[in-house]
Amino acid sequence: MRQTQEMAYAKLNISLDVTEKRSDGFHNMVMVMQTVSLCDELSIRMTEDGRIRCRSNLHFIPSDERNLAVRAALRYLERIGESGQGLELRLHKKIPVGAGMAGGSSDAAAVLRALNRLYDRRLSLEELEELGSAVGSDVAFCVAGGTALARGRGELLSPLEPLPDCELVICKPEFSISTPELFRKLDAAPLRRHPDTAGLLKAIEEGDLHAMCRRMYNVFEDVEDRRMRTVGEIRGRLLDHGALGAIMTGTGSAVFGVFDRAEQAEQAAREMKKELPFACVARPVGRISR
Ligand code: C5P
Repeated sequence: MRQTQEMAYAKLNISLDVTEKRSDGFHNMVMVMQTVSLCDELSIRMTEDGRIRCRSNLHFIPSDERNLAVRAALRYLERIGESGQGLELRLHKKIPVGAGMAGGSSDAAAVLRALNRLYDRRLSLEELEELGSAVGSDVAFCVAGGTALARGRGELLSPLEPLPDCELVICKPEFSISTPELFRKLDAAPLRRHPDTAGLLKAIEEGDLHAMCRRMYNVFEDVEDRRMRTVGEIRGRLLDHGALGAIMTGTGSAVFGVFDRAEQAEQAAREMKKELPFACVARPVGRISR
């Protein structure tokens, strides 16, 4: 096999807590993560010229090592002793960029799954996750995805029961938010509130959607940043449209609402699209097979 295709699914944070700043500059986190059906499409072709290139439908996506997908490919080939193999990566991006949905990380994880298929599954899931976490904090989760508790930088993963059946309306305002910038702002003031992660895990375990929605919380929404006002407004509008809960995902700027009825979710997405550049309905996706 010389080429293959792979879906790169977005992630949402059902909760996000930051527990401490570490001596290496990263932060320890406790997050409930969920893979969702919104995805980029990746195709990989082996080439003869020894170079790794990435082409995308978005002109501003870098084609070289600044792109996490290219970095993941380089690391994979190096790890299995095939450095020097040429690759053409093609990405059709649908996940909004700079949205807190792990768009770049999910592309990198899809590259790892796809290359492992092209190379007859030489690496185990654990090895792929380890390679992934060296590329970016969210990449390890994106390798197998599903519903998981992520700790540490995001690389310490425990699979959870699938989310109760629901529809997700994902919205993104015009602006994007830089992850390092928001971490710096978070460091500047003590956090006033933390999510009830234990209660959230119990709600998921029991399949109680309403209890889950009551416990969704992202500490970044409390950071002193004027853009959080817009985030709060979008959250309020999603709740007005019937969402059982709504929060920002990751370091934003995307916000999502959880609905129990498909028609209501579709209607909410239609209304939100009138005001915002991006709104869609997605569904939770289970673990991705290698
Ligand atoms: O690992 P990744 O490249 O996604 O992280 C981007 C930036 O986000 C890091 O350079 C760091 O500033 C911040 N970060 C952090 N703690 C984490 C994850 C990311 O401080 N757990």
